[in-house]
Amino acid sequence: MRAPFVTFEGPEGGGKSTQVARLARALGAQGLRCQITREPGGTKLADQLRKILLSRSTKDLSAQTELLLMLAARADHVSNLIRPSLEDGITVICDRFVDSSVAYQGAGRGLDPALIRQLNDFATGGLVPDLTLLLDVPVELGLERAARTSRPDRFEGQALDFHNRLRQAFRELAKAEPGRVRVLDASQGEEVVASQVLQTVQSFLATRKA
Ligand code: TMP
Repeated sequence: MRAPFVTFEGPEGGGKSTQVARLARALGAQGLRCQITREPGGTKLADQLRKILLSRSTKDLSAQTELLLMLAARADHVSNLIRPSLEDGITVICDRFVDSSVAYQGAGRGLDPALIRQLNDFATGGLVPDLTLLLDVPVELGLERAARTSRPDRFEGQALDFHNRLRQAFRELAKAEPGRVRVLDASQGEEVVASQVLQTVQSFLATRKA
């Protein structure tokens, strides 16, 4: 059996990257080999595409082009980092994956979610996370938090309505797949969320072994 594939999802400012790092440290301390990574990104090519996708100087990117660039980054990431790690017995913890495309390019940009899933299947070879932690946070709070650390990127700079639509889409994804997607309230403090994340992942790992 390949190693577990865990993803973090959610609107902006939910603290995903902090929680990804904390989870990897906690699991590493228990002797589990972990690889942390993020999307778009994770390989040299995907990191170059990330720069283009997030830069505010990238103008006139159609929704279709945006999706295809996300998918090109994902295909490279899956075949060169995620799959080889999982097959090597390394638990992969990834900050965003296919659910972000369904939320951002689907609910956000208005592309057909069924088509997004079909194209993602092609890009990932059908790879699906075993567990997804949805760090849910009210849109205003999340954007305010994100703005404290850096100037808004091309996505963060979108209108509130865009962010409200994608938050709703994430919550619907969680309802549709309760076995895979667990919702955590990321408006709570970092410590509280970190212990809920660890508890959720540990009980998932225990059922997987059983
Ligand atoms: P982040 O890593 O700081 O969250 O930035 C990545 C941005 O890219 C974030 O605004 C969400 C967006 N994104 C998509 O629109 N579609 C995707 O498939 C992924 C992975 C990210």
